[in-house]
Amino acid sequence: MNMSASKLQLSDSGRLLHLLTLEDLPPKIIYSLFAAADKFAAHKPSPDARPLSGKLFVNIFFESSTRTRTAFEASARQLGADVVNLDRITMSGETKSETLRDTVLTIAAMGAAGIALRHGENGAAVQAAAAAPPNFAVINGGDGENAHPTQGLTDAYTLRERVGEDFSGLSIAIVGDVLHSRVARSDLHIFRTLGATDIRLVGPPSLCPQELQDELGATVINDMADGINGVDVVALLRVQRERLNADETGLSAAEYFTRFGLDEKRLAGLKPDVMVLHPGPINRGMEISNVVADGKNALILRQVKNGMAVRMAVLNELCGDR
Ligand code: CP
Repeated sequence: MNMSASKLQLSDSGRLLHLLTLEDLPPKIIYSLFAAADKFAAHKPSPDARPLSGKLFVNIFFESSTRTRTAFEASARQLGADVVNLDRITMSGETKSETLRDTVLTIAAMGAAGIALRHGENGAAVQAAAAAPPNFAVINGGDGENAHPTQGLTDAYTLRERVGEDFSGLSIAIVGDVLHSRVARSDLHIFRTLGATDIRLVGPPSLCPQELQDELGATVINDMADGINGVDVVALLRVQRERLNADETGLSAAEYFTRFGLDEKRLAGLKPDVMVLHPGPINRGMEISNVVADGKNALILRQVKNGMAVRMAVLNELCGDR
């Protein structure tokens, strides 16, 4: 499925048609999106030069979202697009058993330039892209446990501000519910493409099983102190409370925090300039303490800010006039 995703999103000449996954996304496309994001971060388009003026963009979100949906809407509007939101899809035909394919064809027939799609099923964005007519872009806003490419781009862009485009010298720990995390997969793919080789997946065995080592090709460590020892980046993942207090982990939220949370004591043992990422929404007192979340090492709000420029770059590339 990921093979077809990486093929489906590129034209024969290597142009980006959809954004479905960061797996195998060529570095030159990533660097080009980053360069465009730099420009949008520095200067928003003036009202008379908005590249998506007169275009329609639709957010189709089958799952709740604060950051991704708002960032797509706000960035599309800043590029001049008209935006329609189908939130949690309650008002759409999906509740009447319309297929995803029919939803895509319907929105495309209305003249939309593209959609951002969030869906609970792995591969939903690929299905949507496979149904899309020419000149209609599908952007994966998160599908199941599979991929969240604009979050991965945002996270890498945020690190790039500090260290530049070569990640080969970075040690990175991705911590938490790696097993169920689309953010972990997209981060892993882009960090690796940008050169990182020391990537550690850290969490309790139930959320970060040893099998992931072969599946994802990164080192699995089930002890927090070992996992984050000497790293440059701690990329925390959200842990769903419902996975705790259940048979799945055998850990309460408090026990999870004690064993895998990043608090000021743990932070004090790391490099002074260690960068702490979290895609949000954060669970204070579970994955991260208040002091760390609000402290100088945390880049969490910078990620949110950068998510705007990155999504403007993606929207301009996929929905703008070529
Ligand atoms: N990071 C992220 O995907 O957050 P939302 O669920 O709020 O979009």
